[in-house]
Amino acid sequence: MIPALLVLCSLCVGVHGEEGLLSWHLDDVIRAVELTERSNPGLDMLGIVRTLRSTANHDDSFLRHFLGPLPDGGPPARTDEATLAPAWDHTGFVAGMFRHRVTAGGQEEGVVLTPDGTTTAVAPMLLGIEAGLQRKRGAPESGIPDALYSVTLAKDLGLSFVRFSNSQLAGRLGPDGCWDSLTAPRNFTLSGPPALATDALVNGAMDGVVLGDHLSREEDPPKLSQLLKLYFHHNGLALDSAPRLQSNFRRGNFGKLANATFLQEQIVASLSLYRGLMGDALLEGLDSAALESAVREGLPEFVHRYMVCPAIIPRCMWGAEPYRGTPTPLVLPLSFLYIHHTYGPSLPCLTFPDCARDMRAMQRFHQDDRGWDDIGYRHNSLGYGVSFIGDYTATLPARRAMALVRERLTQCAVDGGRLVSNFTIHGHRQLVNTSCPGDKLYTEITGWEHFREVQPKPPGDSRAGN
Ligand SMILES: *[C@@H]1O[C@H](CO)[C@@H](O)[C@H](O)[C@H]1NC(C)=O
Ligand SMILES: *[C@@H]1O[C@H](CO)[C@@H](O)[C@H](O)[C@H]1NC(C)=O
Ligand SMILES: *[C@@H]1O[C@H](CO)[C@@H](O)[C@H](O)[C@H]1NC(C)=O
Ligand SMILES: *[C@@H]1O[C@H](CO)[C@@H](O)[C@H](O)[C@H]1NC(C)=O
Repeated sequence: MIPALLVLCSLCVGVHGEEGLLSWHLDDVIRAVELTERSNPGLDMLGIVRTLRSTANHDDSFLRHFLGPLPDGGPPARTDEATLAPAWDHTGFVAGMFRHRVTAGGQEEGVVLTPDGTTTAVAPMLLGIEAGLQRKRGAPESGIPDALYSVTLAKDLGLSFVRFSNSQLAGRLGPDGCWDSLTAPRNFTLSGPPALATDALVNGAMDGVVLGDHLSREEDPPKLSQLLKLYFHHNGLALDSAPRLQSNFRRGNFGKLANATFLQEQIVASLSLYRGLMGDALLEGLDSAALESAVREGLPEFVHRYMVCPAIIPRCMWGAEPYRGTPTPLVLPLSFLYIHHTYGPSLPCLTFPDCARDMRAMQRFHQDDRGWDDIGYRHNSLGYGVSFIGDYTATLPARRAMALVRERLTQCAVDGGRLVSNFTIHGHRQLVNTSCPGDKLYTEITGWEHFREVQPKPPGDSRAGN
């Protein structure tokens, strides 16, 4: 569960360098945008996103309904790629970043690794930006498909709900996946059978909604490349002083805009329109009632997975070593949540590479020096262990990090059947002779709703220490 905290962290990725040409890193998307901006200095942000979409020839009657026709005769202005970046296949890259699909081998395309360690689909993000720029937003009307939600999220979510409504093969949503390399990512392999709306597609859609909504209220939008840098590169600001509009808060920001009732209406309205315009075979023979019920059945999974639960960075993303030996499966739901601090590292990491490095160092210490099976913040079979990275003897973790654990992570675990609803929270020091989780943090958690004293003291945890 520790990696849950990693999502709060951000990074400034180094150079993607020569090796990084045509890698699927967000920084390469920014390079492609900059190239388009430099060769079309007269275009504003809306002109640039439309030029990119036109370069990729990413258009259909559903998109035209909401965003209008792209200019005839190809891109409105040329990208002089040969002069600006000789080794860069601009058209190929832009077409690839818009073309979202999952191959037969389980590789997801049209997605990029972002500096916060999550993966996001480019097309729905840029479509959301375009929809947001196209109009100043009033309150969205119920039952009428809203361009911002339709072109990003609503139609794709709806199709995934309908397609997988009775499927044993895959969930209606997800999964996440693993990149082949964090410095020059090219190959993103999904970790299970794919739904139509994967984690990356939902991330891109949420980015599109959040950025599009923001831009619809913005008098004087910056350059697109600038916006993407601000949103994805938070320059290692401490969590509580970071601006709200950044990618590692995408779930919270999305949750402030949308709710289940509104999404239900939007998805049904988008799907009905899509069926009318595109005649999708999947929707043939489904009357409105069947369509509505597929959406009503699917939506709670979306709300749980992406609006209640925090993003969890999979082990492959921080470069975890395998578990040593054979793990014993937990008997769920568990009854306890144990709070730790790491003590060392003594400061919270603020960028993804730093967090990933810290995770690897802690795992190495626990496996090699202490001889444990894996990274060890667990009173193993009885409860989940959550460790805040840092030394909280004299200071508290970031408010945002504490709220994430106290509110979202616990709700996620209870709703997901992993933790009983009357679970109790303990500090590590209540179970063994240790100062963990630090005096200051321990005092803080004694005020949390689920905190309980331990009476009498259960058998000591053999995994003592911080
Ligand atoms: C991508 O990775 C998968 C799994 O590691 C591998 O099977 C596949 O061949 C790779 N594809 C490419 C194009 O490198
Ligand atoms: C749900 O979201 C919509 C769209 O943002 C908003 O108009 C409505 O007031 C929200 N309803 C609730 C109960 O929050
Ligand atoms: C939690 O609820 C269950 C069943 O409702 C009960 O058996 C158990 O004693 C409760 N645990 C605590 C710690 O209150
Ligand atoms: C707890 O640990 C401290 C420091 O290691 C030690 O001084 C103390 O005697 C221990 N207390 C008990 C009850 O074992």
